Amino acid sequence: MKQVNLGIIGGGTVGSGVYHAWRQNGALMASRLGMRVHLAQIAVKAFDEPRPYPIPESLLTTDWRSMVRRPDIDIVAELAGGTTVARDMVLEALRLGKPVVTANKALLSAHGEELFEAAGQSRANLYYEASVAGGIPIIKAIREGFVGNRITHLFGIVNGTCNYILTRMKQERAGFEAVLAEAHRLGYAEADPSLDVDGHDSLHKIGILASLAHGFWVRPETVHVEGIRGLSQADIQFAERLGYTIKLLGIIKAASPAGRAGRAARGSRIQVSVYPALIPSSHVLASVHHVFNAIFVRGDIVGDTLFYGRGAGKDATASAVLSDVADAALDLKFGTPCRVPPFVPHERAGAVIPIAQAVSRYYLRLTVLDQPGVLAQIAAILGRARISIASVIQPEGHAGDVVPLILMTHEAPNAPLAHALDRIQRLAVNRAPPVMIRVESFD
Ligand SMILES: NC(=O)c1ccc[n+]([C@@H]2O[C@H](COP(=O)([O-])OP(=O)(O)OC[C@H]3O[C@@H](n4cnc5c(N)ncnc54)[C@H](OP(=O)(O)O)[C@@H]3O)[C@@H](O)[C@H]2O)c1
Repeated sequence: MKQVNLGIIGGGTVGSGVYHAWRQNGALMASRLGMRVHLAQIAVKAFDEPRPYPIPESLLTTDWRSMVRRPDIDIVAELAGGTTVARDMVLEALRLGKPVVTANKALLSAHGEELFEAAGQSRANLYYEASVAGGIPIIKAIREGFVGNRITHLFGIVNGTCNYILTRMKQERAGFEAVLAEAHRLGYAEADPSLDVDGHDSLHKIGILASLAHGFWVRPETVHVEGIRGLSQADIQFAERLGYTIKLLGIIKAASPAGRAGRAARGSRIQVSVYPALIPSSHVLASVHHVFNAIFVRGDIVGDTLFYGRGAGKDATASAVLSDVADAALDLKFGTPCRVPPFVPHERAGAVIPIAQAVSRYYLRLTVLDQPGVLAQIAAILGRARISIASVIQPEGHAGDVVPLILMTHEAPNAPLAHALDRIQRLAVNRAPPVMIRVESFD
């Protein structure tokens, strides 16, 4: 039976998970592939570091460069993380013509264009299934399964930490800080949680998916990002009373004029954003709880599809890495190094629209004086901005002369809404900064 040798850089959460999964199911993989993948070596920083799954010392090296250069290493998996040395690791392997598997979304977000270019030049493939949504095979789905579709919409719950926090805030009426502390204690949140709760981890992943789905490189700085730090229990409860659930979503929406003529005229225009959104509690994404991830994809041919599973963790992520290793092994077996290229820029005039131009519905929570004529003043400002109100709720039971006023609007671009909120904030009857959360209805 033909054999290929795999060298892994990184023996931490993901690396040791891959070692464990390979030990458990390597023989099964071999029988499915008709070839063996031999895990030849694992490069780490230090031999004596504690690992989620123990790795025999005989497999370890602290010299990743020599491992990558070993002539008998056929495939390299970069599971070290970071964006500096990891870039060198991937480029070195590609330079040597070796296929690379990576789980590193931060690296792809920062240097993806360069790495895909290097892969193209060396005709060695670059696989990255584990970089988005852990064990969910969403890259393969977009890269291969939906190759005959235009992806018109993609909505992803792609950060397990945020979804865990929002789930518990809703279910237990707990505050953000308390749930974050608990998430940290349980190992779901880092000591510095900003990468997760401020939306940057979701940005890395949604940028990769947007680039892949729309065929031009989506630069992270063009993606509008809002995290969940500012969300209050009040908004979670008002949303629930209105029939909605708040989720942190990565959003990709085609914003081009429909049809071939429009696209040809000025390339495709897409919205790519990360923000907390009200979604109908009856929608399937509202039932995605705790650390689970889910990605809803709408293609113009396939219609609506949904992918659900664990978005991180040593085992789920190892599953995705092994899938990529299997593809790389088959490429080598059949001499088809770029059977499915890692990323094909096919939309050269594509662009991400600024958030100011993106259109959505809005949930607004205002804190205003409880006196006649307030609603009329607010409605006049929104009307001048051409934003029409869909419904208004003034919850009862608030003592004192300051009350919350909840408005749901119809669709409008972000720019006039921001302008209107600015004017509302300056009204004499306004008593606190207005809260705005976008509403996604999946229409
Ligand atoms: N954790 C997850 O659930 C998850 C999910 C999806 C994707 N990812 C991605 O997977 C990658 C790895 O994450 P992780 O959680 O496994 O990280 P980790 O637990 O911190 O492990 C990193 C590993 O890389 C090794 N390493 C770091 N620098 C090295 C160097 N210069 N030379 C050799 N080895 C080096 C470390 O060696 P020592 O062990 O000696 O310190 C360690 O084994 C990241 O890009 C991450 O974003 C992680």
